Amino acid sequence: MATYVVVGLQYGDEGKGKITDVLSAKSDYVVRFQGGDNAGHTVYAGEEKFVLHLLPSGVLQCPGKCIIANGVVVNPKAFMHEISQIEEKGMRTDHVFISRRAHVIMPYHILLDTYREEEEGGTQIGTTKKGIGPCYEDKIARVGIRMVDLLNPEVLAEKIRKNLKIKNSLFEKYFEKPGIEFEEIYKEFLEIGQKLKHRIVDTEVELNQAIHDGKNILFEGAQALMLDIDFGTYPYVTSSSPSTGGVCTGAGVPPTSLQNLIGVAKAYTTRVGNGPFPTELNDELGEKMRKVGQEFGATTGRPRRTGWLDLVSLKHATMINGINNLVITKLDVLSGISSLKIATKYKTEDGKIIDYFTSSTTKLYNYEPIYEELEGWNEDISHARTYDELPNNAKKYIEFIEDYLGINVYLVSVGPERSQNIIRKELF
Ligand code: GDP
Ligand code: IMO
Ligand code: MG
Repeated sequence: MATYVVVGLQYGDEGKGKITDVLSAKSDYVVRFQGGDNAGHTVYAGEEKFVLHLLPSGVLQCPGKCIIANGVVVNPKAFMHEISQIEEKGMRTDHVFISRRAHVIMPYHILLDTYREEEEGGTQIGTTKKGIGPCYEDKIARVGIRMVDLLNPEVLAEKIRKNLKIKNSLFEKYFEKPGIEFEEIYKEFLEIGQKLKHRIVDTEVELNQAIHDGKNILFEGAQALMLDIDFGTYPYVTSSSPSTGGVCTGAGVPPTSLQNLIGVAKAYTTRVGNGPFPTELNDELGEKMRKVGQEFGATTGRPRRTGWLDLVSLKHATMINGINNLVITKLDVLSGISSLKIATKYKTEDGKIIDYFTSSTTKLYNYEPIYEELEGWNEDISHARTYDELPNNAKKYIEFIEDYLGINVYLVSVGPERSQNIIRKELF
């Protein structure tokens, strides 16, 4: 009985949802600790496809509780929509709870996110326009609305009034757009509070008790380390800490309670949204990876940028996260590529060779990856269920990653289905 953390090591969409779903079958709790409905976690359960944005990916299989903890920013309308979608497919949702401390994404957050993205001359991050950044800004500025506030009419009215004063002035004067009326949103959010009140609970005490009692607790990250507000390619990042460190503040559990730190990486790299991407392939091969890997955003439908595996950034990600178990997904997508490149170093603009990730995002655009080339394989590996069934070159690819990072790959994913895994060591 132990704790498990699943985090993304690249730019998101590594397949965290699939892995969380698989591991959740034996979990007493599955906990989201950061991000919001900017996430898109795809889970195949038999014939059914589910794309979870805000609900923990454990919702389908976890026999215990699914928690949206304090560090998450919650769009309650998106939450209710997702709940009803799951219920329509005949699944239970009575085990889903939200922390009273979680911040609420309000309509003005979504507008602000959208106007900024559409502003000429602005820094276009390529956000999901879900209001994530503006909601976290209000949290830090101490003017945010929390889930618990939806249950208190006076507090909610006062907070909405104060916020609208400032936000409307920004909308009207700066963006030259219409503002939002108090009445338009106050009643609606009060009603939402009433609809959700049976799910709005304190989560940190229960989670700490569960840790004390030795339950299996799985913390599910959204986004990934290269989108981390501190350690990603700032400013082309999301507004939370999708690292293992984010679990402690995002769920209220101590660092000493975290045991199995599972980092998920694709066998290649993808990125959706703007920002540097040293190993990006803007050619036919990149197009092939997008097609074979079906690399289109689960939240926005945007085509994902594709490129070779980048071990320099992966090393940065495993270091910050303290990963002790690696998962490599989508190895099947690389079948049929005769020669595979893996970036192990960068050449800087003044010709220096480095093997660490830089904090200077602007410089990164001019860094040239230095590659090692490995021989590919032609076999379809999607039916492999044991490591030995993999072609030698596929094993060499995995072992190259392990050697560089000094971490064992405990699971290799070879397809989107629940069963398409090669598990080299049982963690649970
Ligand atoms: P997440 O955001 O990290 O949960 O990842 P997404 O769900 O956004 O994107 C991963 C995509 O790859 C989804 O469509 C998955 O169904 C799919 N997927 C996951 N693992 C594998 C795999 O090993 N092979 C293939 N071909 N697809 C996979
Ligand atoms: P999952 O959990 C991939 C990207 C956006 C944008 C940047 C900031 O499915 O891996 P935001 O809306 O968060 O302010 O956008 O982060 N982004 C993701 N990219 N997967 C995600 O989530 C992402 N969530 C945000 O495209 O570049
Ligand atoms: Mg995703």
